[in-house]
Amino acid sequence: MSHSALDDAFNIFDLRDKAKSRLPKWLFEFVDRGTEDEVALRNNRSAFEHIKLKTHILNDVSKRTQHVTLFDKQHDMPIAIAPTGSAGMMWYQGELELARAAKAAGIPFSLSTGSITSMEKIASDVGGTLWFQLYMWADRNLSLQLVNRAKAAGYEGLIVTVDGVVAGNREYNQRNGFSVPFSYNQRNSIDVMTHPRWLLGVLARYLLTTGMPKRENYPEELKQKITSGWKNQAAVRNDSLSWDDLKALRAVWPGKLMVKGILNARDAVMAADHGADGVIVSNHGGRNLDSTPAPIDVLPRVVDAVGNRTTVIVDSGFRRGSDVVKALALGAKMVLIGRGTLYGTAVAGQAGAARAIDIYREEIDRVMALIGCTSVADLGAKYLNSSGDSISVNS
Ligand SMILES: Cc1cc2nc3c(=O)[nH]c(=O)nc-3n(C[C@H](O)[C@H](O)[C@H](O)COP(=O)(O)O)c2cc1C
Repeated sequence: MSHSALDDAFNIFDLRDKAKSRLPKWLFEFVDRGTEDEVALRNNRSAFEHIKLKTHILNDVSKRTQHVTLFDKQHDMPIAIAPTGSAGMMWYQGELELARAAKAAGIPFSLSTGSITSMEKIASDVGGTLWFQLYMWADRNLSLQLVNRAKAAGYEGLIVTVDGVVAGNREYNQRNGFSVPFSYNQRNSIDVMTHPRWLLGVLARYLLTTGMPKRENYPEELKQKITSGWKNQAAVRNDSLSWDDLKALRAVWPGKLMVKGILNARDAVMAADHGADGVIVSNHGGRNLDSTPAPIDVLPRVVDAVGNRTTVIVDSGFRRGSDVVKALALGAKMVLIGRGTLYGTAVAGQAGAARAIDIYREEIDRVMALIGCTSVADLGAKYLNSSGDSISVNS
């Protein structure tokens, strides 16, 4: 699908620039930035620069495939959409648009607890491979209601996010006047007025149709407009979460269970011991604890510890196809994309998200050809420069 705003978006950074010009500053920064001094945010990117690939020349790579099997199911690419809870603010009904782009590309889509489209609507209007991301609440019963709804709606995977037991320290949100509860002040009102494409194309359309967006997955007692404060602050805290909660979830969730926010081998082993089918190595895109290592750097240790019995997935900072190839060579089975596809959604809804996915696909494909690999399923240590040189001839 041709879309003029996308014609000159050659990479994810171009999409980011375009998203920046369309979105009010408070919203763009909420999506784009990290926490505190943004060390983790920068390090997530720079860590990729230290990993080099090994080329295998003069291999016939004229037929290349990105198909991968994850949890016994085939997907067309080794990426999936990360749960972000804000695609709906990037574009009118942006979560539906992003989910449609994921389905069309044959990749999984994860819906966040805090999304503004209900899990049932995503399932009925779009479908595809769907995973539901759960933030466990202090009131476990309310969380179990969500789990049961996800089960009834046909979600195949449950992602339990464990790295946000309290909110990350994001000072720019406060400076921008973006907080919960949201309050209009002169600065953020001018910000919205000076971004008319977002004001008219997103906010006004919501106000004229369904009203101010709400967190539609929340049970009635917690549901609220995204601009209002928490009705029941204590109920949505989750700093009392423990391994027993994971065990309890395992007992009620029949589908694939993934634990998101693992950053070391010990926690990965614990997650596997408690019945997780997958671990997601992630520092939440550098948004929560600033003093975290880059997930790509700890990935090999996690793969060593649990790779033979659990599916290892990774995210945080993936902006290039080569980043994805490196993670797969290090033993990850799939990569989640957060901001990359949010930028695309902000630029052109489904078409923009599809463009972002195309960019990853084209870049992965090119890197595969250049390193002499025909199938992403074959990626492994032999494509890493650090793996040392063997003089025995092999393919
Ligand atoms: C705007 C935004 C909102 C997010 N919301 C959630 C969320 O609700 N639940 C969750 O588990 N992770 C959330 N994340 C983290 C992503 O799932 C993912 O870990 C992260 O974006 C990966 O890094 P990347 O953005 O560099 O790809 C969010 C990330 C962003 C950028």
